[in-house]
Amino acid sequence: MKTIPDFQKWKTAGTPITLVTCYDAATSKILNETSVDALLVGDSCAMVVHGFDSTIHATVDMICSHTAATRRGAPDKIIIADMPFLSYRRGEEASTQAVAELIRAGANAVKVERCKGNIKLIGQLVDAGVPVMGHLGMTPQSVNEFGGFKMQARDDLAAQTLLDEALELEEAGCFSIVIECIPAHVAERVTDALAIPTIGIGSGPGNSGQVLVINDILGLDSKFQPPFARRYMDADQMISRAVEGYCEDVREGEYPAEGEYRS
Ligand code: KIV
Repeated sequence: MKTIPDFQKWKTAGTPITLVTCYDAATSKILNETSVDALLVGDSCAMVVHGFDSTIHATVDMICSHTAATRRGAPDKIIIADMPFLSYRRGEEASTQAVAELIRAGANAVKVERCKGNIKLIGQLVDAGVPVMGHLGMTPQSVNEFGGFKMQARDDLAAQTLLDEALELEEAGCFSIVIECIPAHVAERVTDALAIPTIGIGSGPGNSGQVLVINDILGLDSKFQPPFARRYMDADQMISRAVEGYCEDVREGEYPAEGEYRS
């Protein structure tokens, strides 16, 4: 079974690391049988599952519930749970309590967005035996500061700041860092400078691994296609076709048929 320390082994060996998001037991049961290295219960669930327009609507209870469901379906996978908006800014006691709830719900590690102001908590968690994944670049919880979901680290100063913060997160004990929506050459520079692996999303091929939102991989929403995401199937059309087929069969009196009910 793969475990958190494998992240370092994969980086050292140059083995690309694969992550997908997951939010429910039905999907994680399928993913448990795949070779994907780890599942991220992202706060993106607020958007893709709950229909909000940003991730700031995610709460600790929401992520705990999705983490527990994901764990029930995937007993063998590494699961990383997102710390929701401001849940790590409520002082040591409340922040630690939120982490305890996420780990008890079934996560092996937590992910924290941004660096500034989080280093002390990250160090304390790591000292307490909780693996922490960092997250830099276009951190969606900062959507209001960024004025939208916009690419980050575009100029030299911002790129240098991101590199410095990545090194700080590594120093604080993070086992890995998600680097979201920054120019590929900056992501490559950060990846080369760090001993720990980077996991890219919308940041080009020069990372130690990649993560995608499962809904984007499956094509569950044909109206939403981030330019960096690759769709491997058109699940929205397949689901529509399946449900239309069922409705037609009921209306035509073809469902249920013999063998699908008991007399
Ligand atoms: O919430 C999420 O899904 C994430 C990934 C996109 C990195 O943070």
